[in-house]
Amino acid sequence: EINFFFPKQQTLAVIKPDALEKHKEDILKEIQDRGFSVTQLKEMVLPREMAEEFYKEHSEQPFFSQLVEFMCRGPCLMLILTKENAVEEWRAMMGPTDPAHAKETSPNSIRARFASDILQNSVHGSSNEQHAMEKIQFIFGDISSEAELTSDGETDK
Ligand code: TYD
Repeated sequence: EINFFFPKQQTLAVIKPDALEKHKEDILKEIQDRGFSVTQLKEMVLPREMAEEFYKEHSEQPFFSQLVEFMCRGPCLMLILTKENAVEEWRAMMGPTDPAHAKETSPNSIRARFASDILQNSVHGSSNEQHAMEKIQFIFGDISSEAELTSDGETDK
């Protein structure tokens, strides 16, 4: 018998402006129920330049300006999620990019339930560990010396 072991991993999750208005509590509860630790969180309205930098991989795409506009429209909740296999597990919880596709293939996913279209698709999650590290650094800066938040909001150091 083979036992797989996944070391703890961090990913960056974002609750986007469309979902933060209506589904913040539902999504946060689900994150905790699935065993993720929220090790940092920050609510902020992204300045345009930050939204452009955040999605710079898509700067040549036809939807880029709409995407930037949408991300700046209201507050986003930025979260660092920590768990074994966090990158892949959070992506699975989110569901596919297009909610129409998500409804077909993963009806329980966040995008299937809450997203209205491929642009306003409720959540972001890093697609690999390298991106996770880069985007965490970009949003939170150097957090290596800060204490972790426990579930009741107390710091544990
Ligand atoms: P992408 O990185 O392909 O998807 P994901 O968020 O699932 O990793 O695209 C980034 C965001 O760009 C996506 O969440 C919503 C937006 N987008 C569009 O508006 N139209 C599109 O056709 C695509 C592919 C993405």
